[in-house]
Amino acid sequence: MKPKNMNQFDVAVIGSGPGGYVAAIRCAQLGMKTVVIEKEPTLGGTCLNVGCIPSKSLLDSSHHYETATKDFKTHGIDVSGKIEVNFAQMIARKREVVSTTVKGIDFLMDKNKITVLRGLGSFEDATHIKITGKDAQTIEVKHSIIATGSTPGSLPFINLDKERIITSTEALELSEIPKHLVVIGGGVIGLELGQVYRRLGAEVSVIEYADRISPVLDAALSKELMKVMKKQGVKFHLSHQVTAVERKGNTVTVTANDKKGAAQTFAGDYCLVAVGRKPYTNGLNAEAAGVTLNDRGQVVVNDQLQTTAQNIYAIGDVVRGAMLAHKAEEEGVLVAEYLAGQKPHIDYNLIPNVIYTWPEVAAVGKTEEELKGANIPHKAGQFPMRALGRSRASMDTDGFVKILTHAETDEILGVHMIGARAADLITEAVTAMEFRASAEDLARMSHAHPTYAEAVKEAALAATGNRALHV
Ligand code: NAI
Repeated sequence: MKPKNMNQFDVAVIGSGPGGYVAAIRCAQLGMKTVVIEKEPTLGGTCLNVGCIPSKSLLDSSHHYETATKDFKTHGIDVSGKIEVNFAQMIARKREVVSTTVKGIDFLMDKNKITVLRGLGSFEDATHIKITGKDAQTIEVKHSIIATGSTPGSLPFINLDKERIITSTEALELSEIPKHLVVIGGGVIGLELGQVYRRLGAEVSVIEYADRISPVLDAALSKELMKVMKKQGVKFHLSHQVTAVERKGNTVTVTANDKKGAAQTFAGDYCLVAVGRKPYTNGLNAEAAGVTLNDRGQVVVNDQLQTTAQNIYAIGDVVRGAMLAHKAEEEGVLVAEYLAGQKPHIDYNLIPNVIYTWPEVAAVGKTEEELKGANIPHKAGQFPMRALGRSRASMDTDGFVKILTHAETDEILGVHMIGARAADLITEAVTAMEFRASAEDLARMSHAHPTYAEAVKEAALAATGNRALHV
């Protein structure tokens, strides 16, 4: 079938987050007649509307406030009068950032001649999708890409009232700064949003089930990040299992069993539930198209991201793997190129992981725990940010870069960093690992002075055998 009619398409992408809209652009670039179906009023999905972009906006604003109140004096900047937060303006700016960003996606859809249909897409069968909502109609498609993303997860006994017991979505739109924010879950969302509200003056208590925060990270990063955030005033309660969350008036009480099994209570005016996200397929009627979901609600896919229906693919948070915008983007490109007959490839080991706290945390490749678990002989080289002139100049002396290499070949197997601009610095590690560089390769490359990136070179020098120059 070559699409002839208005409602016939080569590819339908359901969902317009970073996975979906990027898949659509790549499909259009490759000559396919493409439609994007989106149920929300704006394009961009979780990331642009209620995730990455608004959270970074609030992280940046609150970081400015913290710097102004804590470090300006040392820098020799005297601000007369009291420095105050105008929270309504901070939220308004965040909305403006989101609105400009989502308009950019409208522009990209127009530019690439992609049809956008507003409404909920449901499969009637493997080649027909019914859209209900603003652009109600049924379309006929050759291929579909499910990119419906994820939604905040919770615990079975929690009644998310979205006023006081909230998810990240509401935490980005509060009308006041909490006095005491109790955060359930010391993962990415809990740490990023916990830091925002701590900087703005809230007492923040993080309750984490595991024995360390962000347990997927290399343990050295978890430890350092917790140390720094404790210094910033965040309180941590590790190895605590939450058993109840109750709201009475404006008070939310969280009960959790500590390591010894003793019940502890934490009373706050808000409770942020950040215990992970779950795949979203509501209303999709995937089964009607022959698409199988697993018991975690994920769409089951093979290595080409093809579902159990031969002409339907799925990408991003709704399938297995890390729930990251940039992972979804790579998958979107992969499916589009695969449909065009190309042979694309993704190395999942080289998808970086970032936490946008300050200092930032970024990592790629294997953690030391994973290497030990797999009995891979390895070496570690570590270099502290405080030893850099650049870090002292900007007063960003917390953190380090840690490089793990194969003990026999010197190939870089993992890079783990915490420090200023780590989210940007990690790209050097990804590039090096993509080309299967050794620590020696990295150590011999010139790094501009003074930069934070010098820590990467120094850690590489350390990994090759105690050759770091500035410690
Ligand atoms: P997460 O998986 O990062 O962290 C959840 C945390 O909650 C874990 O530390 C877990 O041990 C803990 N936990 C689970 N059950 C618990 C319980 N009953 N009591 C106490 N602690 C419990 O999930 P999070 O932070 O909700 O983020 C969701 C997803 O969104 C993640 O997959 C993340 O990758 C993505 N995301 C990525 C960002 C980034 O790349 N910077 C920013 C925000 C979200």
